[in-house]
Amino acid sequence: MEIKQVILKNIGLFENLEILLAPTPENPSNITVFVGNNGAGKTSILTALATSLSWFVARLGSAQGSGNSISEDAILNSANFASLQIRIDDSYGGALDPSNSSKRNEFEWTLTKTRKGRKAQYNSHLNDCSRLANGYRESLSHDDQTSLPLIAFYPVERVVLDIPLKIRTKHSFLQLDGYDNSFSHGVDFRRFFEWFREREDTENESGISEEVLNQVKPLLETNQEAWKQLEQLSDSAKDRQLTAVRRAIRRFMPDMDNLRVRRKPRLYMAIDKNGEALNVAQLSQGEKSLMALVGDIARRLAMLNPALENPLEGDGIVLIDEVDLHLHPSWQRSLCDRLMETFPNCQFVLTTHSPLVISDCQNLLVYTLNNGELKRENSQYGQDANTVLLEVMNTSFRNEKIEIEINDLLDAIQDMRLREAKELLAKLTAKLPDQHIELLKAKLLLRKQELRHAKD
Ligand SMILES: Nc1ncnc2c1ncn2[C@@H]1O[C@H](COP(=O)(O)OP(=O)(O)OP(=O)(O)O)[C@@H](O)[C@H]1O
Ligand SMILES: [Mg+2]
Repeated sequence: MEIKQVILKNIGLFENLEILLAPTPENPSNITVFVGNNGAGKTSILTALATSLSWFVARLGSAQGSGNSISEDAILNSANFASLQIRIDDSYGGALDPSNSSKRNEFEWTLTKTRKGRKAQYNSHLNDCSRLANGYRESLSHDDQTSLPLIAFYPVERVVLDIPLKIRTKHSFLQLDGYDNSFSHGVDFRRFFEWFREREDTENESGISEEVLNQVKPLLETNQEAWKQLEQLSDSAKDRQLTAVRRAIRRFMPDMDNLRVRRKPRLYMAIDKNGEALNVAQLSQGEKSLMALVGDIARRLAMLNPALENPLEGDGIVLIDEVDLHLHPSWQRSLCDRLMETFPNCQFVLTTHSPLVISDCQNLLVYTLNNGELKRENSQYGQDANTVLLEVMNTSFRNEKIEIEINDLLDAIQDMRLREAKELLAKLTAKLPDQHIELLKAKLLLRKQELRHAKD
């Protein structure tokens, strides 16, 4: 499932905004990124997409299900109504409806909202949304192993991580629970933990526990063949869904391995970091939030694709606000590539404030937002962070006061005002670090000009 286009009318600060999402012929990746100043409207766009998609999820649950409505606050202040039109491509749902052979894979629905106390001018049209959801429901009725598309929205508030110590109720998870809280809470560690524990219990019942393996290992040191067979046996009993989650986390964080639930001395979630066992609660905020995000996407994919050998190849749409939140620049750099590699069939719509997120991945579709206008940017692939800051994010990459002083210095050197240049250089040398690259360059230039002056 893929969003092709969305049209926002009177939503947030946008009067009329048409957005095409990747993959497009020019940007064949599955990632679209929005950048823009604070208040440029990035979150409004993601929330609008989530609102539209929530209707599909609701109608998948039941034919008359209702998703989220456009909130009154989201209607452009000077307008009385707002509408959201979304165009979706889905080969799966469409193929189930032979009566619609002309636009088999296309689904388009419109959600509207009229301000309280005003006359409604426009109605919502959700027939296609129902048609798409019906297709999946019908298929589920015949085959309960049908794959469902992941739909998830991770708002900025996802940083609130709650790792519970106790789990009061133990409940079993159904396939449709892959959508639980997928719009409101974002990452929910409690659910993740509950689900992980339940799967692990079943895994342990049918397989060989890690403790037993560790105990047996020294005994079989002289019999490698038997050890190999035992390992294979243990691997084949591993839960496919848990394996998917563990694999996704390892791809993003190669230092981390073997996520598991520990039952003694009390219940907690453990992970090995560079070989050392740690309680997940001990990890840093950045580590926790990346792990929770990746783990949550993988968990939902695993739940929604019960028949897939590799659930990470499941299909879906993932919206992440401020994807760089808490992440070190080196993680920001590799983020988009890793998302694409780990979840190859998911479409991502992201927002960011980081130049590194958009300069390190090929074929991204990058939009900048400025005063309600949307602009598609040329590829920033391979561009250095300074250029991206300057050209895409409209920010100078150095402190502006220092920038002006350095420019004055360079002008003075260029115009042979050597005494003034020396004074400026002395002033800047006192303020800036010894190895400041622009100062080193200026010193060399000044020396050259002095020599030339002496010659003349
Ligand atoms: N109903 C409305 N009518 C007019 N303008 C609105 C309305 N609702 C929000 N806005 C404007 O839209 C902006 C909010 O946009 P949004 O939260 O999407 O920004 P953002 O790009 O996500 O910013 P940040 O980077 O700070 O998260 C506000 O600054 C506000 O000026
Ligand atoms: Mg925002």
